[in-house]
Amino acid sequence: MVARDLTTDLTALAELVAGGGVLALTGAGLSTDSGIPDYRGADGKRRFQPMTAQELLASPAARRRYWARSYVGWPRFAAAEPNDGHRAVAALQHAGLVGPVITQNVDGLHQAAGARNVVELHGSLTHVVCMHCGERYERSTVDAWLQLANPDFDRSADGPLRPDGDVAIAESLIGGFRLVHCVVCGSDLLKPDVVMFGESVPKPLVEHCFAQVHAARAVLVLGSSLAVMSGYRFIRRAVREHIPVAVVTHGWTRATDEEVSVRVDAPLGETLTALAAALTG
Ligand SMILES: NC(=O)c1ccc[n+]([C@@H]2O[C@H](COP(=O)([O-])OP(=O)(O)OC[C@H]3O[C@@H](n4cnc5c(N)ncnc54)[C@H](O)[C@@H]3O)[C@@H](O)[C@H]2O)c1
Ligand SMILES: [Zn+2]
Repeated sequence: MVARDLTTDLTALAELVAGGGVLALTGAGLSTDSGIPDYRGADGKRRFQPMTAQELLASPAARRRYWARSYVGWPRFAAAEPNDGHRAVAALQHAGLVGPVITQNVDGLHQAAGARNVVELHGSLTHVVCMHCGERYERSTVDAWLQLANPDFDRSADGPLRPDGDVAIAESLIGGFRLVHCVVCGSDLLKPDVVMFGESVPKPLVEHCFAQVHAARAVLVLGSSLAVMSGYRFIRRAVREHIPVAVVTHGWTRATDEEVSVRVDAPLGETLTALAAALTG
């Protein structure tokens, strides 16, 4: 395999995006500069084990564990702000070069940076859903209930924020955490309104995204290992439809060199800022 030259690849990237009609497919790597860690990192290996939906629903003990850790992480996750990469995507979109954004992120930072037409493939941590009756709540509402139910719980643990928006806390704290209940049906089967591991993206949403791929002139992957099929399938579809794919991500991706026309292994913030400056003047 011939090693690719970075300068050439940036030029190739700029040429591809300059033609417009670009669909952006983004992942956790775009939000690491905002303080939200990714799952995999450059070697493609998963660094931690997220809780599955099945585990969450299986027992009150699992739900106490999930919600106690998430309760500690939420103020930090909610305070995360968009970074240069998100701003550059919005600028490219406003300039008419990037069209829809399909994001695997659940942090709302594309929209906070001013992007429009964003599909949240895996939902958003800003909402909570009752798995018993389907009622949906704002996360801020559920957070207020949790505060009322846990007035003495110390949420200032200083461990690092983890990719799911939670913080690892002492096991001894978890047992005393009090769950809150759906006000419609009384169940404690509350789940963040995101596609957790073990769940799949709703079919109509997948079809909508396939249509966006079909309508695109090029697909631009930003900060995703593409390890999860829910994002990688759009690359497969693009390749099948002879739509060029560019990837800007550090390290390994599931997409092969045969599938990718342009690959840039460089920091997203700087790379996208330079790209937006070059193309939007
Ligand atoms: N911010 C979030 O909302 C968030 C965070 C973590 C995980 N998740 C969820 O986990 C899944 C993870 O899959 P994924 O493919 O999105 O992420 P991933 O963790 O599998 O891959 C992230 C990729 O981005 C690269 N990267 C990280 N920082 C970078 C930077 N500054 N510049 C260039 N590259 C950088 C990493 O090397 C890695 O290849 C998603 O489905 C998502 O739902 C979401
Ligand atoms: Zn309910």
